Amino acid sequence: MDKIYNHSSEFMPELPDKCVSLMVTSPPYNIDIRYGNEWKNGRVTKSKGKKYADRLEEEEYRKMLFNVFNETKRVLKDDGQLWLNIKNRCVDGNIIPPFWVMDYFNDMFLKNIIIWNFDWGGSTNKRFSSRYEYVFFFTKDDKKYTFNLDDVKIPALNYRPDRYKNQLKNPTDVWKISLVSGNSLERTEHPAQYPEELIERIVKVGTNKGDLVLDPFMGSGTTAVVAKRLERQYVGYEIEKEFIDISEKRLADV
Ligand SMILES: C[S@@+](CC[C@H](N)C(=O)[O-])C[C@H]1O[C@@H](n2cnc3c(N)ncnc32)[C@H](O)[C@@H]1O
Repeated sequence: MDKIYNHSSEFMPELPDKCVSLMVTSPPYNIDIRYGNEWKNGRVTKSKGKKYADRLEEEEYRKMLFNVFNETKRVLKDDGQLWLNIKNRCVDGNIIPPFWVMDYFNDMFLKNIIIWNFDWGGSTNKRFSSRYEYVFFFTKDDKKYTFNLDDVKIPALNYRPDRYKNQLKNPTDVWKISLVSGNSLERTEHPAQYPEELIERIVKVGTNKGDLVLDPFMGSGTTAVVAKRLERQYVGYEIEKEFIDISEKRLADV
């Protein structure tokens, strides 16, 4: 497959039913990120206005997500799985958690809510600075799904040869993985890029070589880059052509 389509993922006519093994994505947050600006050396040099506004009316935003996830469920295999990275919104200094998104998946099985913890970000002095996002992990079938735990185990801190068979352990549901920093090698001009390391763990645990991975909000192509490197197939959707150009450049280097 290995293709990123330049239109909304509310409809995925290119994909037959039940062809995708795993979906992983971070949807637009509807917090007015100015997608579509021109950037140079990490700074916006020209605002092209809202080619795509990340601030839809809330009802319109949720309807868009509903359409995308409905379509995702159609293309997901019966033993398929879905990983969704989303964070709290902060409006006028108050936190709005994103648990409403779980309503879209009442017909699926919630296996984990991962806390993705990182070291830096914005700071405040009226509450504790926020240093995590969520990753929801749902499966279509309760029992039948891929989970290659051995491929993602991490070194145990207090290895005791007399107690444990080996020194690798389950990474648990709290993952400490750095955000993509300004001078990181994987940094692109996309304003909301997630780190390859985060997606690598998900693709490794949830798929096998040759499986098809979908990202309906492909952005700068992180999901595709990781899938390609791990010898999985990828397919994605992105409404901004300039982000597809970034993805293609990154993919050419894999
Ligand atoms: C949070 S970003 C994803 C970033 C990506 N994870 C990365 O690492 O670069 C969300 C992306 O979804 C795109 N987008 C918004 N609405 C869309 C839609 N209906 N269909 C496809 N893409 C959409 C935006 O242009 C934006 O690039």
